[in-house]
Amino acid sequence: MSDIVAHKTTAILAGATGYIGGYVLRALLEQGYDVISIGRTAPRLSSEKSVRHVECDLLQGPPQLPLDTFLRDRVVVISCLGSRGGGKKDAWAVEFGANKALLSFAQDLAAEHFVLLSAICVQKPKLEFQFAKLAFERKLISSGMCYSIVRPTAYFKSLSGQIENLRAGKSYLVFNSGKETACKPISGEDLAEFICLCLTDISKFNKILPIGGPGPAITQYAQGEMLFEVIKAPMRIRKIPSGFFRVLSGLMAPFAVLSERLADKREFLRIGHYYATESMLLWDDESQRYAPELTPEYGEDRLYDFYKSALQDGLEGHDLGAHKLF
Ligand SMILES: NC(=O)c1ccc[n+]([C@@H]2O[C@H](COP(=O)([O-])OP(=O)(O)OC[C@H]3O[C@@H](n4cnc5c(N)ncnc54)[C@H](OP(=O)(O)O)[C@@H]3O)[C@@H](O)[C@H]2O)c1
Repeated sequence: MSDIVAHKTTAILAGATGYIGGYVLRALLEQGYDVISIGRTAPRLSSEKSVRHVECDLLQGPPQLPLDTFLRDRVVVISCLGSRGGGKKDAWAVEFGANKALLSFAQDLAAEHFVLLSAICVQKPKLEFQFAKLAFERKLISSGMCYSIVRPTAYFKSLSGQIENLRAGKSYLVFNSGKETACKPISGEDLAEFICLCLTDISKFNKILPIGGPGPAITQYAQGEMLFEVIKAPMRIRKIPSGFFRVLSGLMAPFAVLSERLADKREFLRIGHYYATESMLLWDDESQRYAPELTPEYGEDRLYDFYKSALQDGLEGHDLGAHKLF
């Protein structure tokens, strides 16, 4: 028996205006899905493609749609939601609250499958957004709906925040030696393909799926080496102690209790410290270390080629969001 199910299906996609959601939208359309986007604004597509869009701020609750719109279809739901602001309250509102509203909508539609884009870092949670993501993962798992929870490593765009600085002749910043943390970065196209696969590949049903791009794992230092090779310039590196984030965060602690804005700023420093000191690879409980060899891989796109095209064509379309430093 084949382990691939047929898929003439309506795919409801939340987050299609976001970075990965945009890739997922294009992949779904290419694969022949009938797509309905749900979000605050309609996604922009090239002129020959179109998609039905339902305007909805999921912070206000599930979309109001006549359910019989879907009765004849197999319906699946994909969440590529993410908090734009990243502050503590916003993290809970979006990563937990908006996803909860989407799940409730999926349940009303008797959707067959819910694919959640999560993050590999929730395996070692220390930050507010990770706790919010985990709380929703648990809610989804206990809902009884068939699910796939995709936990990717770093996206290419998140490792591209220093390109403009290097082009301007500045040094490449690494934390500590730059060799203590690593990841298996994945491209938007490859991740979108993997997410679509979750809808049809039974081996990915009811699973938590950590996923990276093609190996080997790359340290922050090695990313710098790649960038200087691509711009054909001698490597200039500046090492920053990761403790810098801790010191600033500690200094802010007494004031953070007085203001939500300062509490968020402090949380951003804690996020900076996390990314400066933790690898985006599978954590192996047994050996108590990040295990590159155990981190699953998918796709063929390479960070080196992404850097080459980014240096040639710029980073338009790759909104760096909060990742300008990394
Ligand atoms: N960056 C990385 O390397 C990395 C690695 C692993 C996992 N992740 C995770 O991957 C996910 C997606 O990342 P991304 O960079 O693609 O995110 P993104 O570009 O910031 O997109 C977020 C999406 O969520 C939508 N959204 C937010 N609040 C909403 C609301 N209240 N109602 C409806 N839609 C709402 C946004 O819509 P609007 O356009 O209306 O704002 C946007 O479409 C995140 O959860 C992130 O934590 C990231």
